[in-house]
Amino acid sequence: MIDLEPFHKIAVLAAKRGGRILKEGLRQEITVSYKGALDIVTNIDTRSEKAIVALISRHFPDHRIMAEEGSGRKGRSPYQWIIDPLDGTTNFSHRFPFFCVSIALEVKGRVRLGVIYDPVRRELFTAEKGKGAFLNGSPIQTSSVKELYKSLLVTGFSYDIQTDPKNTFDHFINFTLNAQAVRRTGSAALDLCYVAAGRFDGFWETKLRPWDTAAGSLILCEAGGRITDFSGKPYSIYGDEILGTNRKIHKEMVQILNKKNT
Ligand code: IPD
Ligand code: CA
Ligand code: CA
Repeated sequence: MIDLEPFHKIAVLAAKRGGRILKEGLRQEITVSYKGALDIVTNIDTRSEKAIVALISRHFPDHRIMAEEGSGRKGRSPYQWIIDPLDGTTNFSHRFPFFCVSIALEVKGRVRLGVIYDPVRRELFTAEKGKGAFLNGSPIQTSSVKELYKSLLVTGFSYDIQTDPKNTFDHFINFTLNAQAVRRTGSAALDLCYVAAGRFDGFWETKLRPWDTAAGSLILCEAGGRITDFSGKPYSIYGDEILGTNRKIHKEMVQILNKKNT
């Protein structure tokens, strides 16, 4: 087994550095550019990404980097960092304080380390493969809720929601009718951490990208949760569907996701 400690330390430093930039950015001018009709990037996303990538590159110059806003690096290293410098950009651009930095490390194609930092609440979620999940250093675990009707669920919508006829409104309706309640927070990375910490019981979404889910999916698995696609098959951060739960309501959620509305 590789010792992840040196990588873990730098990932935490980088997440906190990015987080500081986001928190300061809330009080500064935010400029918005459009990547698509709804998909935006701000000057602060870019600033955070540059700082994170610079720090990681200084310590691990050979490692590959996949970063949402494009300052990544290809190569042959078995190590790849997967970075979302600001998850929750739409929230951030409205100064709605729910967003985070997400950093994961893949080794030979497997996510081994995940670090997510919410600078507003100063909450640091971390996990190393096989070693459990932590919030500010204390172990966390998923909730004990066993029935869907008692569950608090969370989801998000992809940026092409207004144009894709296969949007996920049916799922939203079905879960709203079968769970205790459904929320939409605007940060998939924090959604996964909140399921890991037992604050939500289940999360589903489509069309997320590796930087949205790499760190959060490891944190959730390490907290005792279960992650699959919508049919219950193994999850990949490169896949199209994610269902992450406290394990206990997983089957019921798969059933709802496969329900055909007439
Ligand atoms: C988005 C957030 C949101 C999810 C979107 C993501 P971004 O990431 O995670 O919760 O619903 O699908 O793209 O653009 O804020 O980094
Ligand atoms: Ca994201
Ligand atoms: Ca982002």
